[in-house]
Amino acid sequence: MTSNSLFGARMVALGTALPDKVLTNQDLEKMVDTSSEWIVERSGIHERRIGGTTAGLAAEAGQIAIERSGIDPQTIDLLILATTTPDRRVPATASTVQELLGLSCGAMDLNAACSGFVYGMIAAHGFINMGHQRVLVIGAETLRRLVDWTDRATCILFADGAGAAIIERTEGPGDLHGWHVNSNGALEEALYCDFDATIQMSGQAIFKNAVLAMEHAARQSLEMADLSPAEIDLVVPHQANVRIVEASCKRLGIPYEKTSMVIHRTGNTSSASIPLALEDAWQAGRVKKGDRLLLVGFGAGMTSAAAVITWDGK
Ligand code: ACO
Repeated sequence: MTSNSLFGARMVALGTALPDKVLTNQDLEKMVDTSSEWIVERSGIHERRIGGTTAGLAAEAGQIAIERSGIDPQTIDLLILATTTPDRRVPATASTVQELLGLSCGAMDLNAACSGFVYGMIAAHGFINMGHQRVLVIGAETLRRLVDWTDRATCILFADGAGAAIIERTEGPGDLHGWHVNSNGALEEALYCDFDATIQMSGQAIFKNAVLAMEHAARQSLEMADLSPAEIDLVVPHQANVRIVEASCKRLGIPYEKTSMVIHRTGNTSSASIPLALEDAWQAGRVKKGDRLLLVGFGAGMTSAAAVITWDGK
């Protein structure tokens, strides 16, 4: 594929949802042998939110995106729900979200771990290229349900949340200029969760490979967009660890100050983390029309995905 084949779709509105319950590092100090200082130094996380269902959080975020976009929800042709934590094995949680939002459209779950939202966004552009008018892409997770709350190596990291975006057909080439998706199944054992079990993770293996995967995905999508790292106005990375993002930015030659980070208050919300960070930047007035954004994620699999877009949202 070349960027010439990408046309006709843009992201128009965002929505997010976080559970009410805040779990601080101090709370975790009472649960496992850890310290807030260690957690902050190693990950950048101060607190995270837990609670709710994946469908409930996804619907809340989706509803906000629909309202902000001002569209008639009946004009949405497809709902893509990126999640590693569906509420049921069958059916897809996307169908539950569809019902909660009162949509008449196709609906499917997409599991690409923490890269899921970017995978979904790219897929949405593809569906629109093939004739769809509007696609609702949501990343939503309830990772607390997969966490062993006695395992200090993982319980400090993962949390719950959701983020949504409306992607719609537009005149002209649209907002997506370059993209890349990848997976390296050889690293499956570095982070996995079996049925009816809890997350198992080799933190250092993930850390090392995440830095490389982020850099590779970013460079591939920048190359397709015919842009240099210096031409990116804002990086919206998956929020797994501040140090991973710092190291990746350093390798790309992009100042860390150009990133949007919410991990300090959300923890790692997997497929929800990129839309949560994008919403934060938008709320803070850090993105304006025409800005070039690099969305880049990595996660279990190991998957990775990146997209270079021009901000054209409401
Ligand atoms: N509190 C205190 N000490 C701890 C804790 C804790 N919560 N967890 C581990 N330690 C200890 C270890 O036991 C180890 O002790 P030892 O030296 O006596 O053996 C020591 O701290 C160092 O452990 P490391 O694993 O080497 O610590 P590291 O600096 O690598 O940080 C971390 C660990 C934060 C998990 C880091 O490796 C990391 O962030 N990795 C990436 C994880 C990640 O991003 N996962 C999600 C991917 S996205 C997705 O798909 C969901």
